[in-house]
Amino acid sequence: MLQALTGGPNLFNQRGPRPKPKDIPMTVVDALKTRISTRAFLDKPVSEPVIRAILEAAKYAPSGGNLQPWHVHVVTGEDLARLKAIIREKQVDNPRGEGSEYHIYPPELTEPYKARRYKTGEDLYATIGVTRDNKMGRLIQFARNFEFFGAPVALFFSIDRQMQPGQWSDLGMFIQSVMLVATEMGLATCAQEAWAIWYKTLGEYLPVPAEHMLFCGMALGYADPDAAINTLRTQRADLSEFVTFRGY
Ligand SMILES: Cc1cc2nc3c(=O)[nH]c(=O)nc-3n(C[C@H](O)[C@H](O)[C@H](O)COP(=O)(O)O)c2cc1C
Repeated sequence: MLQALTGGPNLFNQRGPRPKPKDIPMTVVDALKTRISTRAFLDKPVSEPVIRAILEAAKYAPSGGNLQPWHVHVVTGEDLARLKAIIREKQVDNPRGEGSEYHIYPPELTEPYKARRYKTGEDLYATIGVTRDNKMGRLIQFARNFEFFGAPVALFFSIDRQMQPGQWSDLGMFIQSVMLVATEMGLATCAQEAWAIWYKTLGEYLPVPAEHMLFCGMALGYADPDAAINTLRTQRADLSEFVTFRGY
């Protein structure tokens, strides 16, 4: 049903070859392995029924005590254009935004996380030929976050301030569910914590109720298959680095 809405999965953005004929539905493993953070989108709208279908499926994400502690703001069309224009104007005097209400990364990030973050940044900029010393090139790419990389739909996720780490984890599962369902539907996404630096402006514009904290944005749309930046394929650590088995 989901694929019928979009004409089937878009297979170009796979992390590894998908060893199945196209008429076999995408499995969860396929979706996990083919989802990537897409940073260039086609100028092609996504209809409201499609967005609703994604959220209708993603809402079955689990949450401790079934609290379902998520809120989604969906913005498109003229409303999205206006928001982007506001940020564009504010960025001129304030490229670092308004700060953020939470630390996007730990202030003193240690290894191995620091090296992973560094490599991801380097690999990303390499896809578009931006070298380490090209500060302007890096700034321009960062600013692309606030254009939603050209995506036609923006999602923002917020959570009630009373919520604890457990509920933030629930929110993460919900966000991943959104991204996997979108992948199944042939759509592409990029979660964007960068939007946290504009929390005040977003708080007023969306609006985000005072008792909620904005976590992140998400670009959603159809990936541009010709964009160099979409060729990035990030790697993952071997199980031996993060799994401890006992009893096997
Ligand atoms: C919560 C969250 C926030 C993110 N924020 C940003 C962001 O602001 N800008 C961006 O370009 N990528 C962002 N990313 C994408 C990550 O860099 C990406 O997930 C990671 O490098 C792994 O690559 P992959 O998603 O292609 O597998 C974010 C990802 C997550 C899960």
